[in-house]
Amino acid sequence: MYEHLATLLSAGHHTTAFFGCYMAYLLASHLPEVQRKVKDEVKAVLGNRTDMQPEDGKKMTYTANVMKETLRLYTVIPFVNRTSVKDVKLRGSDVVISGGTTCLVPLCLMIRDGVDRGRHHVRFVDAEGHVQEG
Ligand code: HEM
Repeated sequence: MYEHLATLLSAGHHTTAFFGCYMAYLLASHLPEVQRKVKDEVKAVLGNRTDMQPEDGKKMTYTANVMKETLRLYTVIPFVNRTSVKDVKLRGSDVVISGGTTCLVPLCLMIRDGVDRGRHHVRFVDAEGHVQEG
């Protein structure tokens, strides 16, 4: 039980803390218009309430998209490990990953396209799911 609690606390604390910082940084430094829309949506859903329920979150579609885009731009967990259980041939190449090989999967690169890489990003998805350039 102690091990499980320690895992949950350590896995949950830094991830959410970093994520919150990145989102605040993006909103504060680049995107006053996006910041205003998030604020308006939170106010529209919660009104004067300070307690938030799961169903409130489902109504905050714009805010949810801003959160997802923040996680895409600033990947909190940049890499994960995966061990191949059998030989796998990579599609479109001659590369074969032998069974038993542990691979480092670069999430931080996979979720950015070639045009994005290396640039500073101010791109958000709007409430309708369309990509907006900031
Ligand atoms: C923005 C917040 C978070 C991000 C970006 C995040 C990201 C991730 C990622 C990418 C993994 C998969 C690692 C892998 O498969 O190798 C993972 C696993 C895990 N996360 Fe999170 N996480 C977040 C918040 C949390 C919170 C709040 C908790 C707990 C309260 C938590 C607990 C865990 C646990 C226990 C695992 C391991 C699951 C397993 O063994 O299959 N995470 N997380």
